[in-house]
Amino acid sequence: MGRTLNLLPATALDYRRLAEARLPRFLFDYIDGGANDERTLASNVDDFAKVLIRQRVLCNVDHLDTSTSIAGCPASMPLVLAPVGMAGLFGRRGEVQGVRAANKAGIPFTLSTVGICPLDEIQAAASAPFWFQLYMIRDRGVIRDLLDRAMASGCDTLLFTVDLPMPGMRHRDTRNGMLGSGMKSALGKAWQLGTRPGWVWDVGINGKPHSFGNLAHVVPDPTDLAAFGSWINQQFDTSVTWKDIEWLRGIWKGKLLLKGIQEVADARSALDVGADGLVVSNHGGRQLDGVASSIAKLPAIAEAVGERLEVLMDGGVRSGVDVFKAVALGARAVLIGRPWVWAMAGAGEQGLGDLLATFKRELEIAMALSGVTRIEQISRANIDSMPW
Ligand SMILES: Cc1cc2nc3c(=O)[nH]c(=O)nc-3n(C[C@H](O)[C@H](O)[C@H](O)COP(=O)(O)O)c2cc1C
Repeated sequence: MGRTLNLLPATALDYRRLAEARLPRFLFDYIDGGANDERTLASNVDDFAKVLIRQRVLCNVDHLDTSTSIAGCPASMPLVLAPVGMAGLFGRRGEVQGVRAANKAGIPFTLSTVGICPLDEIQAAASAPFWFQLYMIRDRGVIRDLLDRAMASGCDTLLFTVDLPMPGMRHRDTRNGMLGSGMKSALGKAWQLGTRPGWVWDVGINGKPHSFGNLAHVVPDPTDLAAFGSWINQQFDTSVTWKDIEWLRGIWKGKLLLKGIQEVADARSALDVGADGLVVSNHGGRQLDGVASSIAKLPAIAEAVGERLEVLMDGGVRSGVDVFKAVALGARAVLIGRPWVWAMAGAGEQGLGDLLATFKRELEIAMALSGVTRIEQISRANIDSMPW
């Protein structure tokens, strides 16, 4: 959209522009950025463009149906809102806006461990079960407590993130003083806040409390991002192994999906420990810069374990056409991270609802022009070519 923000937003990237105009720079960059030189982030998106679809015509596509089931949940299309930490800083009670829009669209919403809104606030806003995401925290008592609370809030699907033994190097955040505590960081952020009075009023003042809802009882001062950063460094467990996932499997009775798998060997281990599924993911290019895109890694993993595990993917999905490509390459469903947050931050719950409707329409068009009418008919045969 360039400078034409007066036009109506149509795509995920249009909402990105709206979010950029509305958010203080340090928050926009926190969403937008990736690890190191952001090469993996770029290839997540670029590699989708390299997958070509086979066009078929005159197939009677009168009764298109995008509905499916994901981890046992009925869904209007194979799409899930990914866990995004601190969404309540990007829009007023952002996770509530996210779950409402997801429920209206008939797809699952995932609440992050480090969401701003707590489980009970999401439960009160939700009209359908939602998913919960968790990291391995050193204090296993905290894990047990969070799992009990998630189950009591009606979550039956746990996305357990395995690709964050420690946070990646996100240089934009360093430059912006995102998690810094010094005077320079504070002044820089204050200046950026001064340029975004709309956000300050709507989210900064009226969107409180800004604590990490689910961790408010364990993080010493959850409103202090620098203190939070050091809590993460102390509590995110770098010693975690597959044995811990076995332990987790033993105590979590709902569906367990491991998020952050990139290799077939790890996908097989996920099967061995009794996971119900996995998400092929590199954390949206925010962890190890230099790993391959998720869409490039998906086909081999889907082929190896797809019949026994529910294989989801995320990273770089920006349209309903991308959803079609991922399903054709073996994904049961895909998650979107940045697109939902851009839409919610830039245009609220309504904007997110409109974007989800666009994804659905684009998926329908891709199905119609590929000659399929149901999600389960989409297959590798619909792919013309891809470079790997
Ligand atoms: C701002 C931001 C915060 C995120 N926070 C979390 C999180 O708390 N837990 C998690 O498992 N993944 C988190 N992710 C990763 C997403 O769940 C997802 O894997 C990724 O965004 C997918 O890539 P995409 O943004 O290209 O769709 C975050 C991503 C972003 C952009």
